[in-house]
Amino acid sequence: MNSRFVAVAGATGGLGQLVAMELVTRGMAVKALVRPDTAPSRTEKLRNAGVIIAPVDLLAVPALTSELTGAICVVSTLQGLKDVIHTAQGKLLEASVAAKVPRFIPSDFSLDFTKTKIGSNRNLDLRREFHAELKNSGIAWTSILNGGFMDLMVGDSPMINHKSHKVAYIGSTTQLLDFTTMADTAAYTAEVAIDPKPTPNFLRIASHTLDVKGIAQAQTNVEGVTYKPSWMGTVGSMEFMIRVMRLFGGENDVFPAWQGMQYMANMFSGAGKLDSLDNSRYPHLNWTKVQDFFQEHKDKKCSDKNSWP
Ligand SMILES: NC(=O)c1ccc[n+]([C@@H]2O[C@H](COP(=O)([O-])OP(=O)(O)OC[C@H]3O[C@@H](n4cnc5c(N)ncnc54)[C@H](OP(=O)(O)O)[C@@H]3O)[C@@H](O)[C@H]2O)c1
Repeated sequence: MNSRFVAVAGATGGLGQLVAMELVTRGMAVKALVRPDTAPSRTEKLRNAGVIIAPVDLLAVPALTSELTGAICVVSTLQGLKDVIHTAQGKLLEASVAAKVPRFIPSDFSLDFTKTKIGSNRNLDLRREFHAELKNSGIAWTSILNGGFMDLMVGDSPMINHKSHKVAYIGSTTQLLDFTTMADTAAYTAEVAIDPKPTPNFLRIASHTLDVKGIAQAQTNVEGVTYKPSWMGTVGSMEFMIRVMRLFGGENDVFPAWQGMQYMANMFSGAGKLDSLDNSRYPHLNWTKVQDFFQEHKDKKCSDKNSWP
């Protein structure tokens, strides 16, 4: 393979595949690290785009080190609980150090967990804990924080009810919320991965920052029907509900209902808000507004429906 390449762990996943494609678009050679038993159909799109598929067990450090040798950056878009974010990603980091990879991008892609309270969000705590390993590793690392994925507001979103035309919120209607599309996140991540300059430990981005009234207005403009914010209680009452729901399980699931509520509480309390943005670091990138994203989703839904046999 080309002597310079970026390795992507998690390339069969939603964000990982987009990152790999954005790197290819930029003319960068990409190696996708996939589980040894990954079905060929799951990597077909990547293969067709010229991505090298490397089946490797992330726990097998010597094999992993050999796959990473020559990489200019390792991008992790792994998703999971402690066994993935600490253990598998930890081995990926160990192998990256052994292979002398100059830059590591951990699988953060989240709210600002440097500000959220320990214990207030299980999945963000896992990422913060992993940073202790990153700091000790000696590798140059950059964490990308993007708020919530805008993509989670369309489709079967629990936040927007298209029957009652309501947008659920807690706390205040004026709390600003950061959203970034997965596509914008992937494009930015690709830029960081191939950046010839040193990159800082944290880069914060948002495609659009707005409050719940802005979300309702965007939905109103797209649908031509008035959507209104619908209050679900205080942040404190949601935190109480989370504690109660946790008593009934979900600790082994990546996204139990209470985990989604933890993200919501972190966003609407302002604790996970991104204070200053680094969008302009790569001035040629475009950022998607919420209304445009809703419109794009609606148009796609209509064209999918019309093309149904
Ligand atoms: N800010 C937000 O609103 C938001 C929302 C969603 C996700 N995210 C973040 O974005 C990142 C990527 O998430 P995603 O939605 O793209 O995840 P995803 O679609 O579930 O993909 C996860 C990837 O990790 C791989 N993986 C997991 N465990 C592995 C292991 N032990 N060994 C090898 N590969 C393993 C999966 O491989 P297989 O396909 O083989 O299982 C898959 O390729 C995560 O950090 C996630 O927290 C952020």
